[in-house]
Amino acid sequence: MGTNTKHKSALEAYPVWDRTVRVFHWVNVLCLIGLIGLGLMIYFNKNFGVSPDGKILLKTLHVYIGYIFVFNLSWRILWGFIGSPYARWAAILPFGKGYKKVLSAYLTGLRDKRPPPYLGHNPLARLMISGLFILLITQAISGLVLAGSDLYMPPFGRHFAEWVTVSGQDNQQLVVVTAGSKEHVDPQAYKEMRAFRKPFINTHKYAFYLLCLSVALHIFVVVMSEIKEKNNIISAMFSGKKTFDDKPVDVEKGDVE
Ligand code: HEM
Repeated sequence: MGTNTKHKSALEAYPVWDRTVRVFHWVNVLCLIGLIGLGLMIYFNKNFGVSPDGKILLKTLHVYIGYIFVFNLSWRILWGFIGSPYARWAAILPFGKGYKKVLSAYLTGLRDKRPPPYLGHNPLARLMISGLFILLITQAISGLVLAGSDLYMPPFGRHFAEWVTVSGQDNQQLVVVTAGSKEHVDPQAYKEMRAFRKPFINTHKYAFYLLCLSVALHIFVVVMSEIKEKNNIISAMFSGKKTFDDKPVDVEKGDVE
């Protein structure tokens, strides 16, 4: 804990984000920068004059970063069940007993320009963060399917390779099917596989647009909150601690390791 004084207005630091949450957050940010950057280059590959081999290289790099992103996200999802109180899904998802009541109290507070101080996510932020997690999970699942159907990369690549390989090939020859090549590929099976894949690429694309908007909104809200509420919300993702002069309303949840 930080400084404890008797003055009502004295700032006090409260631990909120454990190490796993902080590491997840910054690894996720770095992965998103790489994934969005490479994703845009894949999307606009013609404008960049990328060759067919260059496009496969871009996609392969995108998938390698994607694996780090998926691993990091999976660990965070698990941490939401076993981690410290403010990292748990019960403190994040906008459900549960009393959620509507605290949301309406928070909105009233916002209207009066005195929103109640929250150590963890406030009721409105819970909606925003849950939306972000849904989009990240959507990108992870659709991305893994695309990695399999486009590049025959794990975890589903072998399944897609078997689907499109001309019948009569034994298992040893299946590995011969390579990204971007039509060798050993049955045209009809390939067409069917591409039709199966279509909703996944569309999902990946539209979730990408929504994710870019949500990330921009997330950054805007965090910066505004830092300026208006002066609660160290940004540095808390490095130090793990937020500061308040009034006791936060959700401080009793338990210890943060
Ligand atoms: C938040 C995370 C992600 C973002 C923002 C993102 C963004 C994008 C974008 C913008 C494209 C170009 C879409 C197009 O050309 O129409 C793309 C393509 C692709 N992404 Fe992702 N992606 C993410 C995660 C992943 C993951 C986790 C994987 C797999 C491990 C993955 C695999 C792929 C593949 C294989 C393609 C090429 C699809 C194709 O054009 O055939 N992505 N991604």
